[in-house]
Amino acid sequence: MSETYNFTIDGKEITGRPGQTILQAADEAGVYIPRLCAHKELCAHGSCRVCTVMVNGRPQSACTQPAGAGMVVENETPKLLGMRKQLIDMLFVEGNHFCMFCEKSGNCELQGLAYRFGIMAPQHPYMFQKKDVDASHPDIYIDQNRCIVCARCVRASHDVDGKSAFGFVGRGIHKKIAFNAEHNLSETKLAATDMAAGICPVGAIIKKRVGFAIPVGQRKYDTKPIGSDIEKR
Ligand code: FES
Repeated sequence: MSETYNFTIDGKEITGRPGQTILQAADEAGVYIPRLCAHKELCAHGSCRVCTVMVNGRPQSACTQPAGAGMVVENETPKLLGMRKQLIDMLFVEGNHFCMFCEKSGNCELQGLAYRFGIMAPQHPYMFQKKDVDASHPDIYIDQNRCIVCARCVRASHDVDGKSAFGFVGRGIHKKIAFNAEHNLSETKLAATDMAAGICPVGAIIKKRVGFAIPVGQRKYDTKPIGSDIEKR
C-alpha cells in the first residue's frame, strides 16, 4: 500500500498505483473517462483524443498520461464535453455511418458516445467520402465506411494475435486500414477467432453469419449508457 499515491479527478480523491495511466486509475475508482481507441487488453495508442482531460490545467490524453501524486485532473467540464462532442461529430461526418442498417448498432461505442453526449445530428456537413468494402474473407468483412482508424485491430493483430494482418496507409482524412496482403483481406492470416476480428469499437469489422444474434433493442448500449459498467456514483 505504501506505493500508492493520491490525486483528484473533478475533486474526487483517487488512489493510483505505480505504472497506471490516469484512465486506468480512474476506471479502478469507478470514474468514467470517455474513450474510443483505448482498450483494456491493448497498449495505449493515444490517437482518438476522446479521453482528453485537463491535468493541472493542461490537456492530456488520459489513456497515455501516467497518473501521479497530487495531480489535479478535470474530466467533466463543459469545455471538455464540448471538445469531445466535436470529435465524435467529426468521426460521424468523415465516415458513412448508416446506424439503422449496421449490425453493430446498439453495441457500437461511437454511437454509444453520441447518445451519451446527446448528439442528435452532426454540426458539420457530411463529407460522403467514397470508401471500400472488402467481403473477400470467408468469415469476416471489412467496411471502411465505418472505420474510425482507432488502430485497435492493428494493435490486436500485431501484439496479441501475432499476425500483423492490418496496418494503415494514407494521411489525414485519407488514412485508412490496409491489409497485409497483395489484393484483399482473404489473403491475410486473419481468423474469426482472432482478437483483431472482434475488437472493433464500431461496425467496420464484422463476422459473417452471426449478425443480429442479439435483437436490436436488447444490445449493450440499448439498455444502459456507455460507461455505466465503470461508473460508481
Ligand atoms: Fe485516449 Fe483514444 S482513448 S486517445
